[in-house]
Amino acid sequence: MEKRIAVLPGDGIGKEVVQGAIEVLKAVGERYNHQFSFTFGEIGGSAYDSTGVPLPEETINICKESDAVLLGAVGGPKWDTIPVHLRPEQGLLQIRKELNLFANLRPTTYFASLADSSPLRKEIIEGVDMLMVRELTGGIYFGKPRERREVNGKEAVVDTLYYERDEIERVIRQAFELAKTRKKKVTSVDKANVLESSRLWREVAVEISKDYPEITLEHMLVDNGAMQLVRNPKQFDVVVTENMFGDILSDEASVLTGSLGMLPSASISEEGPYLYEPIHGSAPDIAGQNIANPLATILSAAMMLKVSFGLEEEAEVIEKAVNKVLDAGFRTGDIMSEGKTRVSTTEMIEEVKKAL
Ligand code: IPM
Ligand code: MG
Repeated sequence: MEKRIAVLPGDGIGKEVVQGAIEVLKAVGERYNHQFSFTFGEIGGSAYDSTGVPLPEETINICKESDAVLLGAVGGPKWDTIPVHLRPEQGLLQIRKELNLFANLRPTTYFASLADSSPLRKEIIEGVDMLMVRELTGGIYFGKPRERREVNGKEAVVDTLYYERDEIERVIRQAFELAKTRKKKVTSVDKANVLESSRLWREVAVEISKDYPEITLEHMLVDNGAMQLVRNPKQFDVVVTENMFGDILSDEASVLTGSLGMLPSASISEEGPYLYEPIHGSAPDIAGQNIANPLATILSAAMMLKVSFGLEEEAEVIEKAVNKVLDAGFRTGDIMSEGKTRVSTTEMIEEVKKAL
């Protein structure tokens, strides 16, 4: 199989973790006789530094001409004072919009060997296997107006939570489709006791569920959902929710696995290419020190093989290698616990390659 992969390392630890995914993809390619080629593009603060914008036209073109996109992370304090519309995060939001990546899939799986690095008790997290489906191109992230204004001589501000019915439909349908291949339960998270957008969300969820009689639909208010996630996470299978709720809840869900450094994600569209990225950010405080955890990005590469290229076996080989390395006791700082072997980013990458 021949595939072109666009690689957007971005800022902070982005470059270091993306390197891990590339090396692992190359190793898997060699073993299974696939040709993966990599084309690099700029995004985020580093793109701003060299081109004046966080998402240059050229990067968009590279992505559109590729079969899949691998992204590191964007952002950092260096760009805190530049105009808001040029901030690194805008690059990420724009690429999601350009590629029409309406659904962001964030799986949270339990790694037995990491049980000690979660602040939650083992009996709470043992066996957790959930998939967050976050709406990614609408809601309060993109609604207009979004501005500061003066009202009656006072400073005021507005953000807009806007959805069109079909935007809600397509992401909820996606969640049901995914639930078919899993434990057949969808939890739709909203704030229907307060927000009009959530009332439409709930209505649409009920409607779509009629096409899926084999799947159980449950509604949950987001505040309760935030609590249930740490109180009894095993109740969840597929969770579907709007953009900002999903942003917040998926960070919370990462605690279940022990570290934000473990969680991969896939963002999908109707037509492709899809985009794969770790859910952790650019971690500017540890950038360039060779201590970041590359596993979330390596696991994102595994998701790419499975979801974009249909290479189930190859993806599984990577997931198994990651588990093996963890079982053998290798840990980057973020998942370090007593009696384990502390390794650097590059050492962790080497261990995964050896374990493949
Ligand atoms: C994420 C991040 C982004 C988001 C930021 C960097 C814009 O937090 O992917 O979860 O809010 O979507
Ligand atoms: Mg986030």
